[in-house]
Amino acid sequence: MGSPFQGPLFLVLCIFIQSSACGQGLGTEPFERSYGATDVRKPLQKTEIRFLLFRSESDRLGCQLRVQHPETLQECGFNTSQPLVMIIHGWSMDGLLETWIWKLMGALKSRQSQPVNVGFVDWISLAHQHYAVAVRNTRVVGQEVAAFLLWLEESVKFSQSNVHLIGYSLGAHVSGFAGSSMGREHKIGRITGLDPAGPLFEGTSPSDRLSPDDASFVDAIHTFTQEHMGLSVGIQQPIAHYDFYPNGGTFQPGCHFLELYKHIAEHGLNAITQAIKCAHERSVHLFIDSLRHSDLQSTGFQCSDMDSFSQGLCLSCKKGRCNTLGYDIRRDWSGKSKKLFLITRAQAPFRVYHYQFMIQFINQIEKPAEPTFTMSLLGAKEEMKRIPITLGERITSNKTYSLLITLDKDIGELIAIKFKWESRAVWANVWNTVQTIMPWGITPHNSGLLLKTIWVKAGETQQRMTFCPENVDDLQLHPTQEKVLVKCEVNSKRLAKEQMSQETCAKNK
Ligand SMILES: *[C@@H]1O[C@H](CO)[C@@H](O)[C@H](O)[C@H]1NC(C)=O
Ligand SMILES: *[C@@H]1O[C@H](CO)[C@@H](O)[C@H](O)[C@H]1NC(C)=O
Repeated sequence: MGSPFQGPLFLVLCIFIQSSACGQGLGTEPFERSYGATDVRKPLQKTEIRFLLFRSESDRLGCQLRVQHPETLQECGFNTSQPLVMIIHGWSMDGLLETWIWKLMGALKSRQSQPVNVGFVDWISLAHQHYAVAVRNTRVVGQEVAAFLLWLEESVKFSQSNVHLIGYSLGAHVSGFAGSSMGREHKIGRITGLDPAGPLFEGTSPSDRLSPDDASFVDAIHTFTQEHMGLSVGIQQPIAHYDFYPNGGTFQPGCHFLELYKHIAEHGLNAITQAIKCAHERSVHLFIDSLRHSDLQSTGFQCSDMDSFSQGLCLSCKKGRCNTLGYDIRRDWSGKSKKLFLITRAQAPFRVYHYQFMIQFINQIEKPAEPTFTMSLLGAKEEMKRIPITLGERITSNKTYSLLITLDKDIGELIAIKFKWESRAVWANVWNTVQTIMPWGITPHNSGLLLKTIWVKAGETQQRMTFCPENVDDLQLHPTQEKVLVKCEVNSKRLAKEQMSQETCAKNK
């Protein structure tokens, strides 16, 4: 059975490999028409690479900076006391600049507390080529960017440590080449690769792609590394100091082709182009989100792979094992590159709240159990009802199951857990049989599933909690039954109290 997004995925790869031949049938025309800022988007014939500076959030056109013309710096309002963030676009199917550029520019400019110069490298005429040609051009463009930055340093003493390049797709490798062309004593402050392109870069040597050596600090967000015919649009391998893999990095929620049908109904053919770019471009929108929702930053956690992450095994922040995704990333870096994982929502704000739940069962049914559970989480602020739980395997013996649960909302500190064994016809039947075989009264405590403890770790707050059944005398869980678990400390206090009062009673007698 083919996965539903294989169709569009194939198209993307087809486009990447064969370029314009496949691109014709993609309805690029409506995409073009739907677009607003046409003036900026005309590729200039004379100069192949343009450096633009945006003066304000609403500046659509930008102001062109010319190397060897220092007066253009003043004309364009370049402020030498502020850092410079340069946006670099990627490969182009249609020769048009994409809308995200203005969104990212606007988001960078909207940060009143940290004003920055926002620049843009327009290399569209060199990017609107067959993919392999565009790839070859990235090195040249990188060298031009380096020359531009060195000129800035020379003419207005602008330090490279104040430079932050943000490159999308092929633009990420342009940034890398810019960094490696600078020389050691002029190291660029930071490079961010937004889903750096994979084809013709995957597996190549560090000098032929973006790598950690290219700047003092390099971060990358991988969002479309789904492999098809041995290729993936975004590069799979880690290439930065911090490599973020949201949702595992392969594919993104909300980009599923079936979900995109809705958009096609709303936005017409334009949506097809958007659909193909959805997961690839998600890297950009995650970055924009980090600027726009600075109070809802997403955290990534170091992990070896998505499998371990999905079991909730990697929610530690000790020894720099977690970091903030996007603009406000902590720039500490100690030697080794780190792969960071996180789950996101399908749209902005993308942040979710990660929890590890470790559930300890004592299975006392002879047959291995395969029940369905739900959990309701009662927090100080809100309650999340009936979250389905899949343990992924049968409950066999005394085992502790670890799983990752993510919540879209902040429920506040977790107070209680309602754990329910959902009725499943099959199981209810088995249960009845078990009950008849083992008459109540004789072995009441040896039948069923005993739920003993649930350990919880909250990734975002790093808080650890232990939950025990509210009623310690009744640990048995039957189908359709719900158990309430509260913090064990509360429970043990109450127990101690009860014991004390019992003792006092005994003494008084
Ligand atoms: C340049 O930036 C500095 C620091 O953000 C600011 O204090 C100053 O007012 C800016 N200068 C101009 C001319 O905008
Ligand atoms: C499970 O734990 C219970 C109580 O701790 C113990 O009596 C029982 O023998 C254990 N079962 C297995 C299969 O280890």
